[in-house]
Order: sequence, then C-alpha cells, then structure tokens
Amino acid sequence: MFKNKTVTVGISGGIAAYKSAEIVSWLKKNNAEVRVIMTEGACRFITPLTMKTLSGQPVAVDLMSMDPAYNVPHIDLAACDLFLLLPATANILAKAAMGLADDLLSASLLATKAQVIAAPAMHCDMYDNPATQGNLQILAGRGWTLIETEEGVLACGAIGKGRLAGIPKIMQVIEATLNPDKPLAGRRVLITAGPTWEAMDPVRYLGNRSSGKTGYCLAGAARDLGAVVDLVSGPVALDPPPGVNLHRVESALEMARVVTVLYPACNIVIAAAAVADYRPRQAAKEKIKKSSASLNLYLEPNPDILAGLGQNKGERILIGFAAETENLLEEARKKLREKNLDYIVANDVSQPGAGFAGDTNIATIISAQGEEKQFPLMSKKALAMEIWQYVIHNSQFTIHN
Ligand code: C5P
Repeated sequence: MFKNKTVTVGISGGIAAYKSAEIVSWLKKNNAEVRVIMTEGACRFITPLTMKTLSGQPVAVDLMSMDPAYNVPHIDLAACDLFLLLPATANILAKAAMGLADDLLSASLLATKAQVIAAPAMHCDMYDNPATQGNLQILAGRGWTLIETEEGVLACGAIGKGRLAGIPKIMQVIEATLNPDKPLAGRRVLITAGPTWEAMDPVRYLGNRSSGKTGYCLAGAARDLGAVVDLVSGPVALDPPPGVNLHRVESALEMARVVTVLYPACNIVIAAAAVADYRPRQAAKEKIKKSSASLNLYLEPNPDILAGLGQNKGERILIGFAAETENLLEEARKKLREKNLDYIVANDVSQPGAGFAGDTNIATIISAQGEEKQFPLMSKKALAMEIWQYVIHNSQFTIHN
C-alpha cells in the first residue's frame, strides 16, 4: 500500500509514545520506508531498540549525531513523503509553532517540506490551555493535519479531552494522505444489493425486478476509491467486482442477519437492495399443489434493515435508495427522515431509462441538510461514481482542527 513512500515518524515524550510502535509496525508491514526520530523524553517511555526493530532502521535521537547513516541528520530525516508526529506533546507543538530547533525532532520539523500529520496527546488541562490551542491553530494554518484528541480517562486518572486518537483513525488519516487518489482508503463500506427472494415453498418465491446493477457498481467504485467493501447481495446474475467481499443471501431475514454481523466494523452503508417488504408467513415444506380453488397467501412484514441501522448509527454515514413511481422527492425526503439517513438517492422507476433492469438511471441525491443534486440520464456505473463523489465531497473524511 505504501511502496516507495518514505515516512519519518517523530516520537515525543508522552505516555502515548508506546502506541507509536503499532503504527510504525503497520507502516513497515505495508512497505513504507520508515525512519524514527525520538526525543530524550520518548526514549524514557519506549526504547529505541523497540523502534529500531520495528522500523528496520537505526533510530535517530541526537541532533549532533556522528552516526554515519546520516550526512546531516535533521536534513536527511526532514526529506520524506510524510512526517508523522505521534504522539505530539504540548511541548513539541509549542516548539514547532515557534520554529524552535533545539533538538533533532524540532529541527527536522522545521526543515521538512513534507506534509506533517500530528496526533496530539496530553493532559486535558494542557490541551485546553489557550497556549496549546493557539499553537494548534498556528500549525493548522501552516497546513499541518491535526488528528483530534479523544475524550476519556487519561493516564493520570483525570477525565477529559487529550487522549491520543484511536489507532484506526490515525491509520485512516495516514492512508488518505499517502494515497490522495483513494479518498475512501481506510474506510469500510457495507453495501446491500439486488432483490430478496421470499420462499413460498421449495420451488417458488416472491421477488422483485431488481438486477443488483446499481449496488454492484457502487461496490466496484468504492473499491476503486480505496475502501474495503462488503457487498451483501440477494440473488442476481452478476459477477461480483473483483476485490470486494461478497456475502450471498436470499431472503430479507438472511440479509438482515448478515448486515447485523458486518455493521459494527463499517463506516459507511449504502442500502441499494430492493428488500421485499413482506414474506409468506410460513414457507410450505412441500411444493404447493395446483388446484382449481383460489390460494390465500398470508404475508407478514419483513424488518426494515436500513431503518434498524439508523437507530444505532454512531459515527457512520448511512445512504438509502428510494425507488418510487409517484411523489418521488417527497417520498424520498420522508424516508431520509424516518430511517435517520445522511443521504438518499431517489429515482423514479416509471421514467424511461430509469429503474431496475436497465443499465442506465436518472436520480436525485438528497442530503439530511436538505441539499439536492440531480443526475441526468447516465449509466449506472457513472452514477455510482457520481454518488460517491457527492458523498465524499459533502462528508468530513479527514480531521483538521
Ligand atoms: O422499501 P423502501 O422504499 O422503504 O426502501 C428504502 C431504503 O430502505 C432502500 O435503501 C432499501 O434498501 C432499504 N430497505 C431495507 N430493508 C427493508 C426495506 C427497505 O434496508 N425491509
């Protein structure tokens, strides 16, 4: 993932220093060339030997080092594709904001022309102090990417804002920075697609005309944009896009079960499936025999999978579809609200060129903020990319203070 990328990791002296080991190891496993700078304080929290072993490179500590590995240490180390400051203590942030260069890490930061990502971590009172907040603003103004601290129990037992951001969040920001053409890098996307089949007996089912094409195109586009994709698909006659995790299901209840298992790990959900609203109360064990009498079929409602996810949304982005034949936008807005979605894609399935079976669609995307964008007639593949671009543009994917 990071082949030919050079990352300098600066570790300053806070208890969160030990967490940098996991990031260095992950960078290395993903083929980045990693060079580590540690401050004197950092060396007391975690050993240079640990970082040398994980990075496979000598660890730099001393600004005046005579180590033959470096010509001029702070200049050599400043030359990289990404400079990661993890953790960033209040002290190193203040030094960087002031442009001080009294140790190897601060001197390298002053010399670097690379993008800097800093993950601050400190006591909540130090974090809240206007001096620190002012320094963060100065650094953000210079183009640094600051990964916001989290709130919680700190090392000293106090509760407040100042904990290092979660490792997955830090990884996401690194991935998005090193691979800017992959805005969904580090994201996990869950997509439902296709119809569901609701069994009447061993040979018959109730279904609908959904081809699954839109969901499959959305899955392929998400993969191209760098996401890890779980595609939960009802029965369709399509080849899955290579590189996505395909989970085949048949009925709405099966789809709901699989989605429930995958949901906790995902960041974005697109529900493109045409889930049957009803299922036969009981599928007959044997094939229902033909007779001249009329047949009563008792149907009971299926769970609304997407509405269920909306009740436990957390930080996730939820996107639904509304396929309607009348009052399109009104119905779509109602579903957006009722299912607690961030976006809904409305399409009038009665229009020529739109709807289930064909390769084209005409759609309007509506955001929870009430913004709307119309997409004219286009291929489902092109529409999938348009939807992603709209969602990416309108959602906050990187964290800047
Ligand atoms: O069926 P309805 O028009 O309410 O579908 C709107 C959205 O809700 C679609 O995104 C669809 O995939 C989702 N849905 C669902 N489970 C259902 C019905 C719909 O996830 N049982």
